[in-house]
Amino acid sequence: MGKIQAAITAVNAWAPDSRLTNDDLAKTLDTSDEWISSRTGIKERRILTDKNLGTSDMAANAIKGLFAKTKLSADDIDCLICATATPDVVFPSTACAIADKTNIQNAFCFDVMAACSGFLYSLVTAAKYIETGTCKKVLVVGADKMSAILDYADRRTCVLFGDGAGVVLLEPSTEGYGIIDSILKCDGRGRHYLHMKAGGSVKPASHETVENKEHFVYQDGHTVFKYATKNMADVTADVMARNHLTADDIAWLVPHQANKRIIEATAKRVGLDEKKITVNINKYGNTTNASIPLCLWEWEKQLKRDDNLILSAFGAGFTWGSIYMKWGYSTP
Ligand code: COA
Repeated sequence: MGKIQAAITAVNAWAPDSRLTNDDLAKTLDTSDEWISSRTGIKERRILTDKNLGTSDMAANAIKGLFAKTKLSADDIDCLICATATPDVVFPSTACAIADKTNIQNAFCFDVMAACSGFLYSLVTAAKYIETGTCKKVLVVGADKMSAILDYADRRTCVLFGDGAGVVLLEPSTEGYGIIDSILKCDGRGRHYLHMKAGGSVKPASHETVENKEHFVYQDGHTVFKYATKNMADVTADVMARNHLTADDIAWLVPHQANKRIIEATAKRVGLDEKKITVNINKYGNTTNASIPLCLWEWEKQLKRDDNLILSAFGAGFTWGSIYMKWGYSTP
């Protein structure tokens, strides 16, 4: 028997129906469809408009859809990891709320916070539970309600993000499928360039923090762009080199969807044709932790057993990383 690897055996995603287009934003902001689409590749994004719903509701919808698709039951799951930057509440974890809403009762559940790299960090964490034999069925869900932390009067940030959720099921494979290698990175000196200024233990919410709009995304877009472009390209090239892979060996690059120009820079660096890159930023914007599983879900029918995939991301922190995996199934 080969060594145990963690393979993705099912994928699902869920995004709200409500669409916010660039033209919609241009009605209230000094911006335009031309500016947003040429700088970012984004045309529209989905918004969870029901004020009573949060990140866990979108994640629960994605998971219920996965259960329906796979005939799996909630009792089969032994671990649930939720990657999110927009938890329902500071504590307890959003994973606990998701477990409640999906009736998952035989699993240990926790959140991972690595901003836009959170889905990759979570996948690698989940893989360890599978590889060591601790778990047999792990759900990794990436979900964010970015609209809850955006200032819709700030054209520099609100145009970039959208809401959504995606989930994958990880199971053991002894046939060489699943996660083969990964590189995860962090440089904490970057944390001030993309963050929320208040609401945590250092600066709890107060009248003053609300008046100063410190509960919204703050971003120095230019600096983030510079580091994202270099680091996502570097780590993608590094994981390929370490596994002796050339562009010809790769079926798909599945990048985090923050900016089309960042994605193109990564593809160019490793010599990948644009036909091999999953890009749906035009429809969803940057959904933070949901972007990679949203791509896997949308491209699922095109992914074939034995395909080599590279998943890459960069996010606040700074955090970034890349995973090399062999896809384990073809959809009939
Ligand atoms: N519409 C119109 N003008 C806008 C605008 C908008 N939505 N947002 C910013 N501008 C203006 C700026 O105010 C600035 O004007 P000024 O020179 O008069 O001050 C000008 O456009 C240029 O801004 P700049 O920030 O230099 O643009 P850019 O080419 O760097 O693109 C981003 C801005 C945000 C698209 C780009 O920096 C980016 O993608 N950064 C990384 C974002 C990211 O990936 N974040 C998540 C990481 S996971």
